Amino acid sequence: MINGVTGRMGYRQHLVRSLLAIREQGGVALPGGGQIWPELILVGRDPDKLAALAARHGLTEWTTDLDAALARPDVEIYFDAQVTQQREKAIRQAIAAGKHVYTEKPLAESSPAAEELAELAAAAGIRSGVVQDKLFLPGLRKLKRLIDGGFFGRILSVRGEFGYWVFEGDWQAAQRPSWNYRLADGGGIVMDMFPHWNYVLEELFGAVRSVQATTATHIPVRVDERGEEYTADADDAAYGIFELEGGIVAQINSSWAVRVNRDELVEFQVDGTHGSAVAGLRGCKIQHRATTPKPVWNPDLPVTFSFRDQWTEVPDNDEFDNGFKVQWEAFLRHVVAGEAFPWDFASGARGVRLAEAGLRSAREGRRIELGNA
Ligand SMILES: NC(=O)c1ccc[n+]([C@@H]2O[C@H](COP(=O)([O-])OP(=O)(O)OC[C@H]3O[C@@H](n4cnc5c(N)ncnc54)[C@H](O)[C@@H]3O)[C@@H](O)[C@H]2O)c1
Repeated sequence: MINGVTGRMGYRQHLVRSLLAIREQGGVALPGGGQIWPELILVGRDPDKLAALAARHGLTEWTTDLDAALARPDVEIYFDAQVTQQREKAIRQAIAAGKHVYTEKPLAESSPAAEELAELAAAAGIRSGVVQDKLFLPGLRKLKRLIDGGFFGRILSVRGEFGYWVFEGDWQAAQRPSWNYRLADGGGIVMDMFPHWNYVLEELFGAVRSVQATTATHIPVRVDERGEEYTADADDAAYGIFELEGGIVAQINSSWAVRVNRDELVEFQVDGTHGSAVAGLRGCKIQHRATTPKPVWNPDLPVTFSFRDQWTEVPDNDEFDNGFKVQWEAFLRHVVAGEAFPWDFASGARGVRLAEAGLRSAREGRRIELGNA
């Protein structure tokens, strides 16, 4: 069952691009033969929206009654793409009902709550998973390939730049839901993005040992979905420095108040002793030590070439499917065939812990140790 299916993520990425796409391809192949076929129950608050959505995609099962759906013995997996604030309560119910649980991030609004969910899931013996879609982006898969192939030598630093201009909603509609900009509704860019940065850094470069962040609310007044002005009190930009196990320093800027002058909406530059790379959502380009030009600082002369042209594109060498779908397939194989799935509630809880530490760092104006060493 899929709760929050009328939302931006629930509908587009999870229902259409993942679960319906899996059904269209005939299911998920099992290692020993056979297919996993997901039957879907759409869960939400608005019966009209659910009925329309089900009809549009030829689905028959939908409900506004979460308790009744969880009580059904034929339901094996509960998936949550609701607004973050509604998540913890629903997941507790699903664990109590003995369902396996997969969820959007962040796992919960606070790290004690997220850690408790991880403990409850373990104690109940259910299988758990948290969406970590960025790991499956073609750009980051290529970056991982470079790391595994020893391209970088010793990795020194990572520079991440994420963001784009989210319209204020007055003269052009905002392209993200308004709850993201209100603290009382679980908004804020740190809670939204630091859980992503935690698993990206952890999986590619090393666990985060400490964080130092400055946050800002650059746009304090926005206009919501009904055209009404509201106070946007949540952080809409975060400037973070993360020290990783092994000594790599990562800096990541996250902002909904920045205009894009990059090739992609997120880019990570990785500098190593033997080479550097810049990875985005899809692309990844490299510069090896042997092809590194020798820039000389001279502001009196105009630059007559493009620095960007001095990089080489990494080839695909693979087919990259939608990241949400790839992770759904892995979770389904985890549930049905017991295949390994490292992106569980414990890992989701570490993401929430980093977000909380980032907010605390900004509030207290100091570096926060995470104690992962
Ligand atoms: N993995 C990613 O890249 C990614 C990107 C964006 C959002 N998300 C996460 O997905 C979740 C949903 O985000 P979204 O952008 O789809 O939001 P959205 O506002 O578009 O959708 C929210 C969904 O929650 C439902 N809902 C249930 N109770 C609600 C309540 N009391 N108030 C408002 N809505 C309620 C809504 O009906 C809707 O289906 C969030 O937890 C967010 O952190 C993940």
